[in-house]
Amino acid sequence: MDKGNGDTVIKFGVIGYGYWGPNVVRNLDQLEGSKVVAVCDKSPTARKRIQKTYPHVRVLTETADLMSSTEVDAIAIVTPVWSHYELTKAALQNGKHVFVEKPFTSDSAQAEELIELAAKKNLKIMVDHTFLFTGAVKKISQLLEEGTLGKIYYYDSMRVNLGLFQHDVNVIWDLAPHDLSIIDHLIKETPEAVSATGQTHLNGLEDVAFITVYFPNKIIAHINVNWLSPVKVRTTLIGGEKKMLVWNDLEADEKIKIYDKGVNITSREGLYNLLVNYRSGDMWAPQLEQVEALKQELAYFVDCILTNRTPVNDGAAGLRVVKMLEAANQSVGKRGALVYV
Ligand SMILES: NC(=O)c1ccc[n+]([C@@H]2O[C@H](COP(=O)([O-])OP(=O)(O)OC[C@H]3O[C@@H](n4cnc5c(N)ncnc54)[C@H](O)[C@@H]3O)[C@@H](O)[C@H]2O)c1
Repeated sequence: MDKGNGDTVIKFGVIGYGYWGPNVVRNLDQLEGSKVVAVCDKSPTARKRIQKTYPHVRVLTETADLMSSTEVDAIAIVTPVWSHYELTKAALQNGKHVFVEKPFTSDSAQAEELIELAAKKNLKIMVDHTFLFTGAVKKISQLLEEGTLGKIYYYDSMRVNLGLFQHDVNVIWDLAPHDLSIIDHLIKETPEAVSATGQTHLNGLEDVAFITVYFPNKIIAHINVNWLSPVKVRTTLIGGEKKMLVWNDLEADEKIKIYDKGVNITSREGLYNLLVNYRSGDMWAPQLEQVEALKQELAYFVDCILTNRTPVNDGAAGLRVVKMLEAANQSVGKRGALVYV
């Protein structure tokens, strides 16, 4: 940690400057509480891009040079999932806090080991569950906590587009971590079971999948992820006892619309005499915070390190998401059979 202008600055090393890495580097470079001292990528093209954009930053080829650097307090790992375990482990062993991309690890045993190692070393792990820091998810979380929606009935999300095909993970591991981290954050219950179906069409990995997660208290979540959709859709419905909500993340304004709609069923004289009342009231679109989610998340990570707080998206949150992904993969292999989490 460095005292610059009287303030404490967390010095970061970043591994991986492909598609998502530049966003992490840009935000860490701009934040007041952090500084990027080195970026490592094994690709020469990526290294050229780093050098051109950040001439003041040290560019490295070998992760070992970053791990052993006494200058670095924390490491951001922005590489494909299969490398997260080894890199996170090495960073923790070298006394660095870790910001690691979603999904946390390739399996839950790896995640458990890393959580234990971080605890032993008194270091922080934050898993990049970016959506938790969006204005939309913050608003939904607030509406649920205030009881505006009432008891949750369901979460139903469609996250589909054409590509980007990944070579190392299927569409479940690529796209579903977003929704799974959101439902983990909003529902705050341990899921009971997962059922998922999916199909491989092009490269041997599932490119279309439908995942159902069963939670206690009759809450059900459904996630449709697809790399073979002609159009991009990012729409989520959340049904509550008191209100219902539609979140269209592709809308520039009014991403969230809350409907005062619902159904009340009363039965006066037994099952054959049901009174069904449909409520159809107003719709409104609340104001949402407009700040870049990743910027807020990284600022929060720096703050968690400085104040020794445990982030909400810590290793344990990452593990809960990995457990649901594992269950979904197992269920796909059994054509949708229930897998208990
Ligand atoms: N939070 C989000 O919204 C979000 C969005 C996109 C991707 N991601 C995640 O970010 C991670 C990276 O995805 P991407 O799309 O940027 O991948 P990518 O393949 O575009 O980039 C990865 C980069 O890491 C480098 N790399 C890989 N292993 C390395 C190693 N051992 N040492 C040094 N460099 C190494 C590669 O050369 C490449 O430049 C994935 O886990 C992905 O799920 C998150």
